Amino acid sequence: MKTRNLFLAATVILAIGASSAFAYGVKGSKHELIAGADANERAAANNELCVYCHTPHAANSEFKGAPIWNKPTPTNTSFQMYGTTLAGNTTESSVGDASKACLSCHDGVSGLNAVINGPGSGNYDPNGSYLGGTKRTMALVENLAIGMRNDLTNDHPIGIIYNPGDAGLKPIDTTLTNWGANKTIASLLRGPDKNRVECGSCHDPHNSDTGLFLRTNNAGSALCLGCHDK
Ligand code: HEC
Ligand code: HEC
Ligand code: HEC
Ligand code: HEC
Repeated sequence: MKTRNLFLAATVILAIGASSAFAYGVKGSKHELIAGADANERAAANNELCVYCHTPHAANSEFKGAPIWNKPTPTNTSFQMYGTTLAGNTTESSVGDASKACLSCHDGVSGLNAVINGPGSGNYDPNGSYLGGTKRTMALVENLAIGMRNDLTNDHPIGIIYNPGDAGLKPIDTTLTNWGANKTIASLLRGPDKNRVECGSCHDPHNSDTGLFLRTNNAGSALCLGCHDK
């Protein structure tokens, strides 16, 4: 009995510890961009969290990669894609909008603080301007700056159609357990025909409670096994 109570107490403490270290949401995560901003940028951003990626009005309507998007469309079109897989399928020839949304910061050269519609009135510039006036970029760290030197050949294929059966891929209506709001593989797919794997298939940029913004914690390779029957 005593051991059982101790065990229960330890479980409760562990659970509390885990939930305070990571909580769902942008606040407190690496995507709380104002955390790394100087005073000028903070003031221009009005300490907002969402403005770095979304705006309620005058969003970038040419850009279909993410909803009410507040960043200029990245101009880099020279990313080297993964190419052909063992199953003989080939990635798109250039990066699709859904992944461009991420690469418009994670390429390591674009401005983290580039937006088209700054907070307040009269701060709209369709070509984009830097909150606070000075361009801020991501450190050129190989793992963070995905596509650094335009190279996506050493990353899990993106811009690839999900073909059930190839690479042990499960049927598209497969139920996902412990994937938060994502109930089936279909809900992970992106692109104009909602049939491709893009960054957002594995990552939710607002979900800090799985670590590394993953859609589900990858302990035991649970993320990989969501799609691949291996
Ligand atoms: C670092 C960039 C970034 C920040 C900051 C950000 N978002 Fe997003 N958001 C995205 C991207 C990218 C998508 C598209 C993701 C996808 O393909 O599933 C998205 C999608 C969404 C969606 C639709 C899909 C869903 O998850 O329900 C909502 C709603 C949303 N964001 C709300 C917010 C709000 C509110 C904030 C501020 C608290 C915020 N976002 C901050 C990048 C961001
Ligand atoms: C507005 C710029 C911006 C956008 C857009 C953006 N990120 Fe980030 N992301 C960052 C910054 C800044 C960091 C922190 C970098 C650092 O630690 O130096 C980061 C960190 C991360 C990390 C590492 C988290 C950690 O805990 O170490 C992952 C994973 C990530 N982003 C994935 C994504 C994905 C996937 C998308 C698109 C769905 C995306 N990001 C869109 C700016 C952005
Ligand atoms: C097939 C799933 C998948 C896709 C697609 C994917 N990622 Fe990831 N990503 C992961 C996993 C899993 C990790 C954690 C890796 C680990 O723990 O070693 C990760 C880690 C990261 C990290 C953190 C790396 C580090 O070492 O800190 C960043 C940043 C990131 N991804 C960005 C992206 C971007 C940007 C894209 C699209 C260009 C993308 N990811 C596409 C699964 C994926
Ligand atoms: C959202 C679904 C999804 C998730 C999650 C996912 N994959 Fe994939 N994976 C794919 C698709 C689609 C392909 C392309 C298959 C093809 O057409 O050959 C692929 C291909 C691969 C390939 C074969 C590449 C080649 O050149 O043949 C490997 C290896 C792989 N994935 C490993 C992983 C690992 C490891 C993880 C977890 C970190 C992971 N995948 C998570 C969908 C996914």
